[in-house]
Order: sequence, then C-alpha cells, then structure tokens
Amino acid sequence: MHVGTAELASAVSNAGGLGIITALIFPTPEELRKEIRRCRTMTKNPFGVNMTLLPSMVPPDYGAYADAIVEEGVKVVETAGNSPGPIISKLKKAGIIVLHKCTAIRHAVSAVKMGVDFLSIDGFECAGHVGESDITNFILLSRARQTLKVPFLASGGFADGHGLAAALCLGACGVNMGTRFMCTVEAPVHRNIKEEIVRAQETDTTLLLRRWRNTTRLYKNRVTMEALKVEHESPTGKFEEVAPLVSGKRGRQVFLNGDPEYGVWTAGQVIGLIHDIPTCAVLVARIEKEAESTLREKLSFFKDSPPSKL
Ligand SMILES: Cc1cc2nc3c(=O)[nH]c(=O)nc-3n(C[C@H](O)[C@H](O)[C@H](O)COP(=O)(O)O)c2cc1C
Repeated sequence: MHVGTAELASAVSNAGGLGIITALIFPTPEELRKEIRRCRTMTKNPFGVNMTLLPSMVPPDYGAYADAIVEEGVKVVETAGNSPGPIISKLKKAGIIVLHKCTAIRHAVSAVKMGVDFLSIDGFECAGHVGESDITNFILLSRARQTLKVPFLASGGFADGHGLAAALCLGACGVNMGTRFMCTVEAPVHRNIKEEIVRAQETDTTLLLRRWRNTTRLYKNRVTMEALKVEHESPTGKFEEVAPLVSGKRGRQVFLNGDPEYGVWTAGQVIGLIHDIPTCAVLVARIEKEAESTLREKLSFFKDSPPSKL
C-alpha cells in the first residue's frame, strides 16, 4: 500500500525484476487502469499487479478491479491477504499467470488446488501481515520445497545477494522484496523515511493486532507502541479503541510528510540490513552480482570445482 505505484514498479521492471503495482492504492478500477497505462509508458518490460484480499468492513469491488487488470492485458497478478478464490477463475480464464503470496504451507497447498501458478512464501520476518503461525523462512522455505509441486519465491527478510543465494539453496526460484525497495531512489516515499530505514536496526519492528488475529509487523514508533498498549490493556478488546491509531490514512501521511512518528507504517526485520538508498538498477545489479559470487565461492569449497573467477 502507498508504495506500489508506476514509478517504483517500472523502475524495478527496468532493472530486470518484476515490478508490481498495488491495485488498491487506487480508489477506483478506472484509476488503476490509468496507472497500468502510465506504467506501460515507463517500461517495456513486464510488470504485475497486486490484489490484496484482506478482510474488510466494506470490501472493495474485487471483481471490477480484476476486470480492469484483464482488460489492460496485464500478464502476472499477485494475490495476497486471503484466498485468491474470489478472482482466480476470472484471471485464469484470461490466461494470466497468478502468483499467490501466503504465510502458511496449508494455504499455499489450497491455493495450488485452486489453480495458482506459483507462490510467494512470506516468512515471519516480513513486513505487513505475518499471519498467525510465526514460522520464519528457514523452516517455511524448506517446508515449501518438501511440499509444493509448483515453483515458489522466498519473501520476507531479503535485501541482498547473500539472501538471494540462500533462498535459491533452500529451494526458492527467486526472492520478493518489500522493505528493501521502499528504500530506493524511485520509491514514492519521503526522503526522511528512507533515511530512517537506513538508521534502523533489525530490532526496530513490532507486531500489532494479534488480539484480533490480523497480526501486522510495523515500524516501532510512538503511535505503534501506544496502539500496542491499548491492545494489551483494553478490558473490552474492542477494535474501535485502536482503529484511530492504526488508520491507513494516517499511516499514508508518513510517506508524504516524512515524519516517521506521525502514524503506523510497515517494515520488515530486514530493515536492519538496509544501509543505503540506491536506484533500483544499482540495487538489482548488486544483488545479482553478490548472489553469483556467493554461490561461486561456496562451490569452490569442493575439491573438484574450478576456482571462482569472481
Ligand atoms: C510499505 C509496505 C507496504 C506493503 N503493502 C502491501 C500490500 O498492500 N499488499 C501486500 O500483499 N503486501 C504488502 N506489503 C508486503 C510486501 O509485499 C512483501 O510481502 C513484504 O514486504 C516482504 O517482506 P520484506 O519487507 O522483508 O521484503 C507491503 C510491504 C511494505 C514494506
């Protein structure tokens, strides 16, 4: 949310990744349609669209957003937040490749049964909705490798080529990165927030909303800590008591006004591994080079392997 615009998606795709536009940033399917068209003018490479199907009091018209995606000829859709059930048949009928992101192997298995093509396995380290089972990627990725018959990406906790190399060794065919791309030149995020990310440590995130089984990893600031206090201490457990603190509108302002204490905003534990604000092109090239040299170096431990040239 708030970050997956054409600016960032096209920059990631131009760098050789698969950039993703977040559908629900746009208040209507018509505005999403315009953003997809704008993104096409900014990159010749493929990019995807994310549809986040989180439970909500007034759910958006997911079908109408899916229609816009299909009609605009998008080739890859990432579903997340809930079962892809409400939109998968529409997407598959249109020949779209569906990537489903989830935090539990049992959800991955049922998504495959519904027809998703590949998965993004989101470990407990990740930014945003971490699920309720708290399994980190060391276990989750190996469980995915042991269980799934379709390819999967490793998501949550990745920022560099060492991480990519590790993900490949655990069985993933690539990585999905959120927090790392937030801290690039092209991300539509105020410079102060990017600098805050550079300063932050891996201990600077916390979980919120577990009481309501909607656990979310957020940057630790005054608002998050106040909401956490209400969550722990409220005798009623009414969500309305934390709602004003966790409001998405207030969180969005953080990225616009650059005040990291203004509202809640999400970041993963990987925040502790981010030390600069590169362009997407520099970042992706660096990750690729690091992953290659890491893998070559480890291979050179084998007596019969040719020595690494890197
Ligand atoms: C600012 C921000 C906003 C996000 N918004 C969404 C979203 O709207 N839908 C979604 O499926 N994931 C969202 N995510 C999660 C990412 O897509 C990704 O799963 C996660 O960041 C991976 O963990 P990482 O941050 O360690 O890379 C968001 C992440 C960040 C950092």
